Amino acid sequence: MATVGKVIKCRAAVAWGPNIPLVMEEIEVAPPEANEIRIKIVATAVCHTDLYFLRERGRGEGFPAVLGHEGAGIVESVGPGVTRFNPGDTVIPLFVSQCRDCRFCRNPNTNQCDKSWPGKRLDVSSDTTSRLQCRGQTLLQYMGTSTFSEYTVVKEIAAAKIPDSAPLDKACLLGCGVATGYGAAVNTAKVEPGSTCAVFGLGGVGLAAVMGCKAAGASRIFAVDINKDKFPKAELLGATDFVNPKDYDKPISQVLAEMTNGGVDFALECVGSVEVMRSALESCVKGWGVSVLTGYNDSQDVSARCLQFLAGRTLKGSLFGGYKSVDSVPKLVSDVMSGKLQLDEFVTKTLPLDQINEAFDLMANSEGIRTVLNVLAL
Ligand code: APR
Ligand code: ZN
Repeated sequence: MATVGKVIKCRAAVAWGPNIPLVMEEIEVAPPEANEIRIKIVATAVCHTDLYFLRERGRGEGFPAVLGHEGAGIVESVGPGVTRFNPGDTVIPLFVSQCRDCRFCRNPNTNQCDKSWPGKRLDVSSDTTSRLQCRGQTLLQYMGTSTFSEYTVVKEIAAAKIPDSAPLDKACLLGCGVATGYGAAVNTAKVEPGSTCAVFGLGGVGLAAVMGCKAAGASRIFAVDINKDKFPKAELLGATDFVNPKDYDKPISQVLAEMTNGGVDFALECVGSVEVMRSALESCVKGWGVSVLTGYNDSQDVSARCLQFLAGRTLKGSLFGGYKSVDSVPKLVSDVMSGKLQLDEFVTKTLPLDQINEAFDLMANSEGIRTVLNVLAL
C-alpha cells in the first residue's frame, strides 16, 4: 500500500473547544507505532457521550480533539509487534481494551482492562499520546478511538476483528451504544426471567437495554422517557409499559412503585443524569432491587439516602455493558448477522461525515436514535 509507513493527510471533524461546532479540517495521521494499528474508518455514529463532552460538560480541558467512539473500518497498516491484525482486516475500535494480560483481564468477572482509555487520562481525553495533528497542533484522541476521522490509530488491544461481510454502517453501533445498553441488562443487572424492569432514557443505549431485558425474559419492561416520541420504538423492541415523568406531579419512583406493588426488580439508567440515577435506584423494590447506571457524567456526584441500601437495594455501574471487548464484539456482530440482535431500528438517519454537526443537533434535540455518518475516504 502506498500509504504504509507514511503520514496520511485526510479529513476529520475537529473539536477545537467546548461549545464550538466541529470543524472539518485536513489532519495528519502518523503511521502506527509499536502495537498500534491505523484504521480507515468506514462508518461512525454519534453517541450522547460525544455530545456531553462537546456541549454539556462545560470544561475546557481535553481539546483540541477528534471525538467519536462508535466506529467501524478497515486496517490500513500495522505497527511493529502487532500480532492480532493484518492490513485489510475489518475492525471495530474499542474504548475499553482487552489486553488479556492484566489483573482485570485475567478476572472473568470484569471487563475493566487496566490499559483502557477510562483508566488513564480522563482529564485530557487521550490515553497517552496521539497520532493526530492539525495546523501544527496535537489533536487528543477522545476515548483513545477518534472515529470522526477518515483515518485513526488505536492500540491493537483496543480493536475487535469482525467478519469482512459485516454491515459496517450498523455494526459501528456495537462500538458503544448497543453493547453498553444490552450488556448492562444481561451482564451487569443479570435480568431474570419473569422479572419487572424499568429503563430510564430511550436513546441508543436505553433501547438496547430494553432489548437486553426482553432477551433475558423480563415479563414487564417499563420504558421511561420525557420524550414520548421514543415510546413506539421501545415497544417494537420489547417494552410493555410507557411512563413519561412529565405526565405526573409526583416522583417517578413513586409512580413505578404503585404500578408494580412496591418497585421494579431491575432499573437501568441510560440518560447520564445524576438525578435520574437516583430515581432509578429509588424505583427498585426493597430487598433485592438492582439498579445499574450506564450514563456517563464526570461533573456531578450521584447521591442517595443510605436507607436505600440498608433496605437491600444494590447500585451497580456498567461500562461497555460489562463485555470483555475483544472477545465479545465479534460475537455480537455474529448475533447481528444471524438476526438474533436487531440494529436496523437504531439507525434513524445517515449523513456524510461533513454534516456531523447536524447529527449532534439531532441528538441534542432528542430527534431520532442514532445518526450514522458515512466516511468516504478515497
Ligand atoms: N428522564 C427520562 N428520560 C430522559 C430524561 C429524564 N429526566 N432526560 C432525558 N431523557 C431521555 C432523552 O429524551 C433521550 O431519549 O434520555 C434519552 C437519552 O438518549 P440519547 O441522548 O440518545 O443518549 P444515548 O446515546 O442513548 O446515551 C445515554 O448513556 O452511555 C451513556 O454516555 C451515555 O450518558 C449517555 C447515556
Ligand atoms: Zn487488560
